[in-house]
Amino acid sequence: MNTQYILDLIYLIGSVTFVIGLKMLSHPDTARRGNLIACFGMTLAILGTIFIHDDEVKPIIYTLILVAIGIGTVAGWMTAKKVQMTKMPELVSIFNGMGGACAALISLIEFQHMSLEKTENSNQLFDLSKLAELFGNIGKHAEMNPTAKMSMIMAGLVIGSVSFAGSIIAWAKLNGTLNKPIRLPKYNILNTVIMIGLFVYAFCIVNGNAEGGMHVYLLFAASLIYGVLFVLPIGGADMPVVISLLNSFTGLAAACGGFMYGNKAMLTGGILVGSAGTLLTLVMCKAMNRPLYSVIFGAFGGGAAAAGGRELTGSIKEISPSDAAVLMNYSKKVIIVPGYGLAVAQAQHIIHELELILEERGVEVKYAIHPVAGRMPGHMNVLLAEANVSYDKLSEMEEINPEFATTDVVLVVGANDVVNPAAHNDPASPIFGMPILDVENAKNIIVNKRSMNAGYAGIENELFYNPKNSMLFGDAKAALSKLVAELKGM
Ligand code: TAP
Repeated sequence: MNTQYILDLIYLIGSVTFVIGLKMLSHPDTARRGNLIACFGMTLAILGTIFIHDDEVKPIIYTLILVAIGIGTVAGWMTAKKVQMTKMPELVSIFNGMGGACAALISLIEFQHMSLEKTENSNQLFDLSKLAELFGNIGKHAEMNPTAKMSMIMAGLVIGSVSFAGSIIAWAKLNGTLNKPIRLPKYNILNTVIMIGLFVYAFCIVNGNAEGGMHVYLLFAASLIYGVLFVLPIGGADMPVVISLLNSFTGLAAACGGFMYGNKAMLTGGILVGSAGTLLTLVMCKAMNRPLYSVIFGAFGGGAAAAGGRELTGSIKEISPSDAAVLMNYSKKVIIVPGYGLAVAQAQHIIHELELILEERGVEVKYAIHPVAGRMPGHMNVLLAEANVSYDKLSEMEEINPEFATTDVVLVVGANDVVNPAAHNDPASPIFGMPILDVENAKNIIVNKRSMNAGYAGIENELFYNPKNSMLFGDAKAALSKLVAELKGM
């Protein structure tokens, strides 16, 4: 059989497994299997690309590729195995950045490839032609119009570089290395001008108005700078939107590579990542009540955001585990609001035990899930699924918000920004306009956290000063264990 048919069949199988895997990732029960199915398809597509073709490939190339795959697999496997659940978003950011970097490097190499085709004697300032020559047989171009090919190269270069640089800054923000938004004067005008400049410059290179390798490296550097400037000013609670947007950028950059090489699996994979990332970005924007254009053309979470909104005064009330246990034991309905602190304390198992005990006593228990609670999309769902909390106990924000008014006790565990009423009441707050869980409507509120420290957005929470609210201070696992012990003793 013709090798191209075999390869097409492999790419078809790969593409179908990506679609099935993505579909299965949408539910915790099937997510693990979905991931394995997509992994199988990806492995098949990679092996097919490397080994199935008519061209002769030098053994050194196979050695280089297999060594690179080996190093990447071991590094990726070990990092993913060791990473704590709460550090997962940082890992996702880094992995996403690596995808962007790959797409940008492919574009640089392929630009040299094209230059090599044009002129035998390359006199580029930075000459990667030897490398391009070395990889000649494996990264074979699809039969394509040169302008279309150059457009794909430029798109992959710009989008991949922005995604790489932006993801590294997002990683530094998520792990706390960069904990304050940095804003240059008139940063949104500056960013918009650079973005338009990138398009115009790339267009000139494609059009042949800016010839020579130096222009491509300048475009590469400018794209990296834009990636940094794009993410640097973003602050408040708005990082989730940017992370999913960068994800979609990487998908698009990979799809450009798929076009360039005529590799259907790469194309489908890239498009799936790009479109899934875009949809997730739109969902996140809706969850944060932010228009998408403000993400792209001007950082949000800024202005008074950086100052952290208005000063709060008043007194806070503390509650002991035994009083909290009494209050919950004699309630009809309790809603638990999990947040990032639940993940930090790894208190998902003890919270499930609390839920079961309360239910044994005839109390109706539900979990209220905010779309950006924690540090990654679906963080709370994954965490609670790990402790076997039944999926139908979890309610989304829109569904649960009307129920708070008829709830006896809301137990907020390690959540802060997602229950901060400043989102409704304080126009100067960085989270103003973001939909929140309306826990203040409940008859009693108990907030468990370790101190009066702020959450991710770095702002105070007026909920803690609400007369209906009591603070149950302590690490979530320890505090909930005491609560469960008190309940068992009743
Ligand atoms: P946060 O607002 O970050 O608040 C978490 C709270 O948990 C903190 O105030 C902290 O207070 C407490 N905490 C930490 N460790 C704890 C422990 N061991 N035991 C008990 N409490 C502990 O969390 P949230 O309400 O879930 O909101 C999420 C925030 O992250 C939003 O601003 C969101 O925009 C942002 N974000 C989300 C994502 C995604 S996609 N979900 C990604 C990036 C950023 P103490 O230090 O006083 O204990």
